[in-house]
Amino acid sequence: MTYRICCIGAGYVGGPSMIVMADSCPGVQINVVDHDKKRIDSWNNLLSGDLPVYEPGLDEIHKRVLGRNLFFSMDVGLSIKKADIVFITVNTPTKINGYGAGEASDLTNIEIAARTIAEFVKGPTIVVERSTIPVRTGDLLKRIFGMNTSEHINILSNPEFMAEGSAVQDLTAPDRVLIGGDDHQAIDELASIYQHWVPSERILRTNLWSAELAKLTANAFLAQRISSINTIAALCEASGAHINEVVQAIGVDHRIGHNFLRAGPGFGGSCFQKDILSLVYISQYFGLSDVASYWRSVITINDWSRRRITQLIIKNLFTTLRGKKLVILGFAFKPDTNDIRESPAINICQGLLDEGAILSIHDPMVSRDLLYQVLCCHEAANISFNQDLISSFRDADAAVLLTEWPIYLKLDWQLLSTLMRSPAWIFDTRNVLNRVEIENFGLNLWSIGYGGIH
Ligand code: UGA
Repeated sequence: MTYRICCIGAGYVGGPSMIVMADSCPGVQINVVDHDKKRIDSWNNLLSGDLPVYEPGLDEIHKRVLGRNLFFSMDVGLSIKKADIVFITVNTPTKINGYGAGEASDLTNIEIAARTIAEFVKGPTIVVERSTIPVRTGDLLKRIFGMNTSEHINILSNPEFMAEGSAVQDLTAPDRVLIGGDDHQAIDELASIYQHWVPSERILRTNLWSAELAKLTANAFLAQRISSINTIAALCEASGAHINEVVQAIGVDHRIGHNFLRAGPGFGGSCFQKDILSLVYISQYFGLSDVASYWRSVITINDWSRRRITQLIIKNLFTTLRGKKLVILGFAFKPDTNDIRESPAINICQGLLDEGAILSIHDPMVSRDLLYQVLCCHEAANISFNQDLISSFRDADAAVLLTEWPIYLKLDWQLLSTLMRSPAWIFDTRNVLNRVEIENFGLNLWSIGYGGIH
């Protein structure tokens, strides 16, 4: 069967997911719709090369499929009317105000999408939840469709598991595609699309709630590993152990494995914190307060990990930062992205500015506007951004590596040591710099999880 697909939401999830799907299924017609004109225009612009989402390899595939079987438009109603399958890929940030603020996800966009589908849907249609949503969002969809349309709608959950920076790889060769629902035929129909490029044994079928919960659980487990290893990094520093050696020793145990065991300043990104907060919220909702507090502790440790970095910088710089210049290496929540949402750099830099530090911040991809927006409540005079990296070290008391961009691994420490004010400190929160190289030039190095000298 030739499917017509509508995808509501042309953001980080909808754009890449549909581009890869269109490429692998030339017979399927896909319309991605969004009310944001600027975003739609940039997806439609083949010439600018400036897609709304930066992902390595995405622009090439986008060029192949745009106008062939993939279309971006603002015509939401018509696209829904023509579709056999509608994906919902709108964003669901954590609520800032009102009931459940700070924990529950804001479902406004999901509800608007559901009501719009109910208004325009024609004929039997499969509706797929693809953006991360709290468990039992399927109920909300069922109720809205039940009250607002007489068309037959099957609801499926097909959460995405792509990470920023590797989205194309995660979509083209996924560990698994998860499809949850009540109707086996609807599940088979969606599976038949993925089978164009995903081996059948990697397509997992579950009930609706298991699929919704599995997405939150995957992120919570990944985040929990990071919080766990960050506590061990602090213990290493206190006891004289080295985190790399501990990770090596536990990672070779195939039951544990090496992934997501890099100590750092805490996890960032738009998903981990939000998804754990969703778990905390539903645990509380179901009366499981011990479960809620267990998962909340993963966030408590993450907040502590960020604070700890600020505090140890202050401690090592003679407990005062007033008027001292610090070079900040990296602001994005991880390399290969310009995304700063929930980046540990935000809290750490705010903490340093509160202590009176003067920051020279560098990041290869983050925009000046974004950076000033998040640090806006601080004296602009105390922040400079993306100046010449080498000369920003002149008279600096310290450099703090927050994002492990490859360019920071190639810095000429011999030259930089002649520019900095002594005693100069390098704080390596990602444990990626070469200790011998740095210490040879008379610089003090603090690296996370390295015990023994400080
Ligand atoms: C994460 C998950 O990895 C994806 O599977 C998921 O689909 C996605 O969230 C989502 O829900 O949309 P992402 O947020 O892009 O992807 O980034 P990750 O690569 O998972 O990194 C998250 C944070 O953890 C970063 O701040 C990174 O620096 C930190 N991290 C990661 C560590 O501190 N140590 C590690 O060992 C790994």
